[in-house]
Amino acid sequence: MKIATILGTRPEIIKMAPIIDEISKRGIDQIILHTGQHYDKEMSDNFFHDLEIPAPDYNIHVGSGTHGNQTGLMMKGIEEVLLDEKPDIVLVQGDTNAVLAGALVASKLHIAVGHVEAGLRSFDMTMPEEINRRAADVTATMYFIPTEQSAINLLAEGFSRKNLFITGNTVVDACFRHLEIAKKRGIEEESLAELDIDNMDNILTLTMHRAENVDVKERVVNIIEALKELDQMNIIFPIHPRTKNTLKNFGLFDELNNLDQVHVIKPLGYLDFLQLTSASTLILTDSGGLQEEAITLNVPALTLRYNTERPETVTAGGNILVGSDKDVILENAKKILTDEEFSEKMKNAENPYGMGDSAKLTVDAIEDYYEKGLLNISAPEDIMDSFTRKMASVEQDITVSDFETDENALIHMVFDGNNMVFPKDELNLNGMMITYDKRE
Ligand code: UD1
Ligand code: UDP
Repeated sequence: MKIATILGTRPEIIKMAPIIDEISKRGIDQIILHTGQHYDKEMSDNFFHDLEIPAPDYNIHVGSGTHGNQTGLMMKGIEEVLLDEKPDIVLVQGDTNAVLAGALVASKLHIAVGHVEAGLRSFDMTMPEEINRRAADVTATMYFIPTEQSAINLLAEGFSRKNLFITGNTVVDACFRHLEIAKKRGIEEESLAELDIDNMDNILTLTMHRAENVDVKERVVNIIEALKELDQMNIIFPIHPRTKNTLKNFGLFDELNNLDQVHVIKPLGYLDFLQLTSASTLILTDSGGLQEEAITLNVPALTLRYNTERPETVTAGGNILVGSDKDVILENAKKILTDEEFSEKMKNAENPYGMGDSAKLTVDAIEDYYEKGLLNISAPEDIMDSFTRKMASVEQDITVSDFETDENALIHMVFDGNNMVFPKDELNLNGMMITYDKRE
């Protein structure tokens, strides 16, 4: 079996690293294709080094550009590599342009697509990420899904539960594996060493780069106004290149950089960044990965967005959406800083993203599909099954898998009276309302 991983940005490198490592350990043939969307050393190369994964076999150097330009160049480059390498499955991760390009190209070449971190939905179609993740899900053969809630999103859109694997999120694998290594190694980045975080109180880690925030001047101004009033904090801001550019264009960079409590530094490598976040009292961010890492590292998070495709962090109690509203940011930040009971509750929120074995579960599922021939994409040879979509209420002790065998059916959705429940094989259906596809 040959597995191709397509990645292009910082979070994809971090979140695919545990899977790349697991594939190597099992001696499976693999190639890594970098789209070149992130190209600065501190947004790309440093992560291959910190996470100890092999350098990419291919880099198609698409660089920065409009969405159409970037995605088009990626598709052209990815197609050439896949035609040459003929992998059995292509893995894409998350919701960047690499995911859209990789999934479209591979599926049209009849190569199976595995979408890692599938099923997330913000329900905000102005976000390029929402378009990318939805489009990738349409093409995929295997879905590696962080939580039951995200799996239910896919069921609600009509995807077959047979291809849905609830694996947790590989960000937990990366966090657990690298935090201890990071602490033993200590801080390497000069800018962070100078700040001496080990002897600092009240650290607030700030990151922001989402187009809907940093490309809108009014939002950036509101966030800076809130930061001005958090003068009891040490605000450490490893700045994303997009944000640096837009702050400079808006003429706001110096104003922010000159605040005594704000330390604007270069983006950090993963090991240094983990030490920073784990030493923080509070994380203020619009990053997807950081919302997940905050709850994994037991640090309260305030998310500078009006919606999130990671609602589990909010319902678990570890994350609060504050948008870019100065008063809401300040009200919640002050509560975390002054109300110990409140902050402890946030810190102790249960991590919904698994135990750190997500990479193992993902590669187990891929090997199983490969052995069963389920990665081969071909037109069906049999005369088409007819099936009807049915609904029933179940009033007997019967599991999902027994029901499916008895009825020659595939269960689609299960309702327990209040909520949708994911139809795991061993779930007892007694008292539930179900929908299913009945094969004739
Ligand atoms: C991309 C992803 C976003 C993800 C983020 C992770 C898409 C649509 N967006 O956003 O989902 O959360 O990565 O960080 O795929 N730049 C540099 N050096 C670099 C890379 C970028 O200077 O190495 C600057 C360029 O000016 C570029 C800008 O950052 O125009 C934005 O980069 P781009 O790749 O378009 O998107 P991100 O904002 O990084
Ligand atoms: N990160 C890092 N150094 C930094 C800022 C972030 O290593 O200076 C890591 C962070 O730990 C997380 C990932 O980058 O795993 C998040 O990437 P980003 O916020 O760029 O993208 P998103 O997750 O929003 O797509």
